[in-house]
Amino acid sequence: MLSKRDLFLQHVGLTSEFSLMLDVSHSDGMYIYDTSGKQYMDLNSGISVSSLGHRHPKVISAIKRQLDKYLHTMVYGEHLQSPQILYATKLSKLLADKLNNVYYVNSGSEAVELAMKLARKYSGRYELISCANAYHGSTQGAESLRSDHEFTRAFMPGIPGIKHIRFNESEDLKKINHRTAAVILEPVQAESGIHPPKLDYLKKVAARCKEVGALFILDEIQTGFGRTGHLFAHQKYDVTPDVLLIAKSMGAGMPIGAVISSKEILGSLIKNPALGHITTFGGHPVAVSAAFAGLEALIEEKIIDSVLEKEKLFHELLQHDIIKEIRSSGLMMGVELTKRKYLKHVVAHTIEKGALIDYFLFNDKSFRLAPPLIIRESEIKKACSILLNAMDYAQGKYT
Ligand SMILES: Cc1ncc(COP(=O)(O)O)c(C=O)c1O
Repeated sequence: MLSKRDLFLQHVGLTSEFSLMLDVSHSDGMYIYDTSGKQYMDLNSGISVSSLGHRHPKVISAIKRQLDKYLHTMVYGEHLQSPQILYATKLSKLLADKLNNVYYVNSGSEAVELAMKLARKYSGRYELISCANAYHGSTQGAESLRSDHEFTRAFMPGIPGIKHIRFNESEDLKKINHRTAAVILEPVQAESGIHPPKLDYLKKVAARCKEVGALFILDEIQTGFGRTGHLFAHQKYDVTPDVLLIAKSMGAGMPIGAVISSKEILGSLIKNPALGHITTFGGHPVAVSAAFAGLEALIEEKIIDSVLEKEKLFHELLQHDIIKEIRSSGLMMGVELTKRKYLKHVVAHTIEKGALIDYFLFNDKSFRLAPPLIIRESEIKKACSILLNAMDYAQGKYT
């Protein structure tokens, strides 16, 4: 008889030869358990998703309550569904006045696709600008925003009219001009190995966009919902985008995303043509109910308040000969090692010892730390001790 692992490899579609194949049994708070009973401390949050930890009780109750009311009733935007109305109203109050209209989608990539369409429709312009080494998703449009041809070559031609600038290089901002429909960027670049913005960089981008009439779009799909120590990274860095993209931790474990802008900008999708974006499942009532409960828990339990302190503790404890630097913004951290060859040993050994860490897409010397924001001081100490041990092990391999 074929094992579960064999069936997985045979029948589940994959795009990687190096799947972790953790045989999940259940998850709770900071931990994921495999079917042999082994406990793993989650230091990834399922890549910036489980900020409240796994299966937060308030989120689970909200999901159960909604299950007893209704699931899908009609394609998005036709029926008055209370979860959508409540969430959009609550979120708008937490954002700048001009971010008052929430269009629900199913994922981060769909939010990015919609933002690209919105920029062209609203501005009547064609060119879009993104940053080198950014990752905005894997659909054809989002993929076209990637600068790295190693990844995109096989899928070309992408959508036309895309230019790239270097993140944090003010010199490149002159490429933003009167032909630019929008600039889309992450406030903290994630997949390049965590690069926070240099002082005033985001303000300069915002100012340049305003000067030439381009939309300033921030992809907060990884940085949103407290990850950087503020509810949103744009609030931390004191800028307001024209269009804000959210997903990942928004759903507190359920799949959902949103494009948020002003009624005027988002309203440009209503006419010429009508139905400028359609989604069947966007804003699914169960997912929005989870998102609402998650947002309430994040705020009521003051989870964000301790994020910067926890970031500091990681920096204090993670000291090792083979660490070159730690780049971070809140609990979004990239630990760069002195040599590339150490990385796979550190990652494998850490996982073996029961803590989940991961690689980045565009940085082969750094590993990612993005634990649930609820991580306790004792758990940070335990995590760092496992990591330091793994670094000793990796170093030992080459001495
Ligand atoms: C910054 C950023 N934008 C967009 C996406 C795409 O989101 P999704 O995987 O939900 O389509 C990701 C996913 O990792 C991301 O990190």
